Amino acid sequence: MPVVSAPYEINADDVFVDLQDVFGVPLHLKCEGFNLAGSVKLKAALEMVRAAERDGLLTPGSVIVESSSGNLGIALSMIAAHRGYGFLCVTDSRCNRAARRLMESFGAEVRVVTQPAGERGLLGARLDMVHALCEEDPRYVWLNQYANPNNWQAHYRSTAPAVAAEFPELDVLFVGAGTGGTLMGCARWFREQDRHVTIVAVDSVGSVTFGGPALPRLIPGLGAGVRPPLLDSSLVDDVVMVPEQDTLQSCHALARRGFLFGGSTGTVVSGALRWLAGREDAAALTTVAIAPDQGERYLDTVYDPSWVEHHFGSPMSWDDAADRDPRSYELARDM
Ligand SMILES: Cc1ncc(COP(=O)(O)O)c(C=O)c1O
Repeated sequence: MPVVSAPYEINADDVFVDLQDVFGVPLHLKCEGFNLAGSVKLKAALEMVRAAERDGLLTPGSVIVESSSGNLGIALSMIAAHRGYGFLCVTDSRCNRAARRLMESFGAEVRVVTQPAGERGLLGARLDMVHALCEEDPRYVWLNQYANPNNWQAHYRSTAPAVAAEFPELDVLFVGAGTGGTLMGCARWFREQDRHVTIVAVDSVGSVTFGGPALPRLIPGLGAGVRPPLLDSSLVDDVVMVPEQDTLQSCHALARRGFLFGGSTGTVVSGALRWLAGREDAAALTTVAIAPDQGERYLDTVYDPSWVEHHFGSPMSWDDAADRDPRSYELARDM
């Protein structure tokens, strides 16, 4: 039994869910939400804080400031509270209430940006605020998850080797892209192995990361309104773009089988199913998708029928979701 003295020392790196029975395809989920911060972002947060301490950037009295859609902010709030730093999170209107309340419970200050910075969107507006804050007060330390190499190194050191240890015959790895930290860390690690593993990036429609047009998105986590500086797309074999309606459909299909995952996980699963549906050899492949989050933070959005209906129109009866072939995405377009 592990005995810990810091909240970030609990992180299960060896939990996988076999989705063969749920979706009828060979797909395993690596669950990254089983820690006290509730998401994959704990790894990047911890690695960035430790590096900033080593480099002498974080000292007693420092206030960490970071732009986050919620989950990195929650992880940093927890770490800052435990290690005695202040934390100020700059987020935007897509950050859900539960995430804001969690950060505040850890003693963090949360500022919410509501006006996009033109084509740079809400993320651009968040970054403008971070720059302004750092100029006005020398106690602020911006870890900058978008460009900080410790973000991807966290996954290079832990996530990718943990997948390979469980699945030495891995053929395909599906990874969602937000800052690109998880994607780049895993892609770099597998690129250095003898056996080629196909790396498939999953992004949400409306994100500019892989060159698509910027469109409004409602579900936080994956996707970006500004191209992530960490991204090296030459390390990615394939990209799948997922409409938010499909994210909802996957989340609900999983929930109907007792697995309550978050919006990012719904997007990655949806992308994986879409990619596998186009492959004749799908049944013979060993595949893993990284599941970045759990579902409870999305009770007021993804899992709230009135929120869904308000933003996406009337869905087909959700009661049918478990019975419908989740790969038949074209059917769901009228949601
Ligand atoms: C729940 C969740 N999933 C996925 C991501 C994206 O991961 P990464 O930043 O490593 O690309 C984020 C980023 O904030 C997130 O909050």
